[in-house]
Amino acid sequence: MIRVLSVASECVPLVKTGGLADVVGALPAALAPEGIEMRVLVPGYRAVLAAAGDAAVVWRGADLFGGPARLLFGQIAGLSLYVLDAPHLFDRDGGPYLDATGRDWSDNATRFAALSWIGALIGAEGAADWRPDVVQCHDWQAGLTPVYLKARGVDLPSVMTVHNIAFHGLMPAEMMGPLALPAWGFTPEGFEYWGQVSALKAGLVHAWKVTTVSPTYARELSTPDYGEGLEGVIAARGGDVIGILNGIDPALWDPATDPHIAPYKQPRGKAKARNALLAEMDLPQGAGPLCVVVSRLSGQKGLDLLLEALPGLLARGGRLALLGSGDPALEQAWQAAAAQHPGVAVTIGYDEALSHRMIAGGDAIVVPSRFEPCGLTQLFGLRYGTVPVVARTGGLADTVIDANPAALVAGVATGVQFAPVTARALATALDRLCDLYADPAGFAKIQRNGMRAAVGWGPSAAAYGALFRGLVTA
Ligand code: ADP
Ligand code: GLC
Repeated sequence: MIRVLSVASECVPLVKTGGLADVVGALPAALAPEGIEMRVLVPGYRAVLAAAGDAAVVWRGADLFGGPARLLFGQIAGLSLYVLDAPHLFDRDGGPYLDATGRDWSDNATRFAALSWIGALIGAEGAADWRPDVVQCHDWQAGLTPVYLKARGVDLPSVMTVHNIAFHGLMPAEMMGPLALPAWGFTPEGFEYWGQVSALKAGLVHAWKVTTVSPTYARELSTPDYGEGLEGVIAARGGDVIGILNGIDPALWDPATDPHIAPYKQPRGKAKARNALLAEMDLPQGAGPLCVVVSRLSGQKGLDLLLEALPGLLARGGRLALLGSGDPALEQAWQAAAAQHPGVAVTIGYDEALSHRMIAGGDAIVVPSRFEPCGLTQLFGLRYGTVPVVARTGGLADTVIDANPAALVAGVATGVQFAPVTARALATALDRLCDLYADPAGFAKIQRNGMRAAVGWGPSAAAYGALFRGLVTA
C-alpha cells in the first residue's frame, strides 16, 4: 500500500469552480484498486468546515502566516480529508479565489502558501498517525509544497500536477520573509520569475516529477504557444513530464442511473431528455442538432468563436443551449445572442443539476477551446451519447475520434474535431455535424461508439499507480 497526500484548493463534492475539483475528488477512489491510499488536504473554506462536522483536531499552530490555525482530519463526504482551518485565511464569504465583486483575494499568495506549508508539514512529520510516501501537488496553489519540504531537509517524493499552466501564483519577492520561503530558491533556476516568486514554477522545478492531464497538453506545454512563459522550465524537465488523461467519475456521470434525468441506456432513449430540454429552454424543434455548452466563460474556452459561428448552425435548423458564467463581457454577448435568435437559449450561472440535464438532452456538445489541458465535458458528452465537437488541442485531441472518412469506414468515430481554432474552422465543423446528424443511422452509430468509449479512470489509474510506485522504490 502506497500512501499519497493530495494537496489541492478545491475538491468535489465540497468546493468546485472547475474540473480540478472533479479530478481531485475522483482520484482517491480511482487509485484505490492500484494499492494507493490517497488522502486529500484542502483549505477550510466555510463550506468545507460545515461538512467537516466533528472531525478530529490533529495539529494546532499559534501563528500560521498571521493567525492561529488547526488541522482537522476525518472521513468527510466519502473522502479521507485533512482540512486546514485557518479563519484569518479562509473564513469569509465569496469564492475560493475571488471575492464577491469578482476580484482575486488580495492575500491569495498567503492563503495558498499556508496550504502548501501544511502539506509539507504532513509530509515531514505525519498527521493523524499517517505519513505519506508521496505528495501530489495540484496547480500553483500547492506548488510551494516541494520547496517547504526541501527547506525542512525532507527528501520526500513529490509530483507537481499541472491542470492549467495559465495561472502562476505570482507574488512579490518581499513575501519571501513572511511566507518563510528559503533564500536559496530565489534564482532563475529556482522559483524566481522575472523578479517575483512563482508558486507554480516552484513546483515545476522542485517536484520529483511533473504530470499534466493529457499527453497532448504535456507536449504542448514545452512550446511558446502554450507554455505561458514556462515552456523553458517544462522543456528542461525532459522525460520527467508525463501526460496522464483525466477520467470521469462513473458513479456521478452515468446516463443509466443519473438522478438528474429520466435515465436511459441507448441513444434512442435520449429523445425524452432532448424534448425535456427543448421545453425547459423554450427552444423550438428544428431539423438540425440541439447543441449544448457547459463551461466557464473565459478566453480559454473559445466561446467568442462559437458566437461568430452561430448563424450557420441556426440556418441549418440547429439549436444551441449554453450554461456558463465568468467574464462579464462574454455573459452579455451570449445574452444578446439569445435575445436575437429564437434558436439560442442562455443560462448564466453555475448549476450542477442543469448541467446534467443539458448534457443528457443535447445531440452534441461544443468545446471550442483555444487550449484545453484535458477537458471533462466532452467526456461527459461521450458517456451520454452527446456527440462532442471539439478543437483539436490538449485533452480534446486525445479523447475524441474525428468522424473523418477513414474513421467512419472503420466504424470508430466518436465526434468532430477542428483545427485551427478559428471561427471559420468551427463553422465548418458545425456544418459537418449537421451533415452527420442528417443521417440518423450514421449519427446513432457515432453516439453508440461514444457511449462505449473508455472515459473512466482505468488506464490512467494504472499510469498514476506506476508513477507513484516508481517514486517510492526509486
Ligand atoms: P475547466 O476545469 O477548465 O473549467 P473542465 O472541462 O475540466 O474545464 O471542467 C469543468 C467542470 O465544471 C465540469 O465538471 C463542468 O460540468 C463544470 N461546469 C462548468 N461550468 C459549469 C456551470 N455553469 N454549471 C455547472 N457546471 C459547470
Ligand atoms: C483545468 C483545465 C481542464 C482540466 C481540469 C482538470 O481546469 O482547464 O482542461 O480538465 O483542469 O484537470
